[in-house]
Amino acid sequence: MPKPRILVTRRWPQAVEDLLEQEFDADFNIDDRALSPDELRIAMTEYDAILPTVTDRLGPEAFPDAAPRVQILANYGVGFSHIDTEAARRLGVAVTNTPDVLSDCTADLAMTLLLMAARRAGEGERELRAGDWSGWRPTHLVGSKVTGKTLGIIGFGRIGREMARRAHHGFGMRILVQNRSRVDPTVLAEFGATQVASVEDLLPECDFVSLHCPGGDANRHLINAERLALMRGDAYLINTARGEVIHEEDLAKALTEGRIGGAALDVFEGEPAINPTLACCDRLVMLPHLGSATRETREGMGLRALENLRAFFAGQEPPDRVA
Ligand code: DGY
Repeated sequence: MPKPRILVTRRWPQAVEDLLEQEFDADFNIDDRALSPDELRIAMTEYDAILPTVTDRLGPEAFPDAAPRVQILANYGVGFSHIDTEAARRLGVAVTNTPDVLSDCTADLAMTLLLMAARRAGEGERELRAGDWSGWRPTHLVGSKVTGKTLGIIGFGRIGREMARRAHHGFGMRILVQNRSRVDPTVLAEFGATQVASVEDLLPECDFVSLHCPGGDANRHLINAERLALMRGDAYLINTARGEVIHEEDLAKALTEGRIGGAALDVFEGEPAINPTLACCDRLVMLPHLGSATRETREGMGLRALENLRAFFAGQEPPDRVA
């Protein structure tokens, strides 16, 4: 039996690439650049499996009209809103993701962003690097205390819960949760959390709001001008989920008009391009999609994708099948 032919669309941690190479007939995108929808559509006719990342836009235009050679898209990442799962289902292509292994590190980064925003760390760093620091003074870059404040979490899946754990147990924060479905009260109790009915109920109550819901059409521009207007004037917005969840121009306007305290973003709607309206906002911390970027997690994600491939080609149900 020939080994399944697979395409890995970006460079992965070496140890996982070695395993993929041993077990499959593997091609790696050695240029390590995002593939275009045309390249992805052609790849679907040439490979048995494609291992894409968030940078591969697998929308309807990337799928061929008839059932392709590809049998599985084993995504390297938990979020899969860049993949048209309806088209995959229609053409009989399985889709898997890599949950759990990145929850800790993504929540760590969300907490990092929350602290950076509250303590004006981005502004301080920019000032130092520009050589503009004139020395300590009581009123210089005064931020907001975090301990004991109220954190609103939108989306209470694995990452949202890890964020709640850090905020509640580490910083004594009061946790409010908004989630599509009802969260088990014993789970809420673990984090001292209260579930509210809607985003509208949550926003006015919070000092900090952290987004942990999926991206895609269901949550596109969930945070827009109307909802930003419900936030307190000194509240902060944190996003480690997907860029499209926030209407970026509405956020930039709220920041420049001083209608919220600040924001911290790890993800952007048109990434890697940054909406120019955001780049001018002082009270904004920006990181280049680093949520899962630790050695341990990136290797864990690769191993999880590998487990999905192994199961699939052994004729079993892959553990993390999402379509
Ligand atoms: C994820 O796992 O969803 C990360 O954002 C990278 O895609």
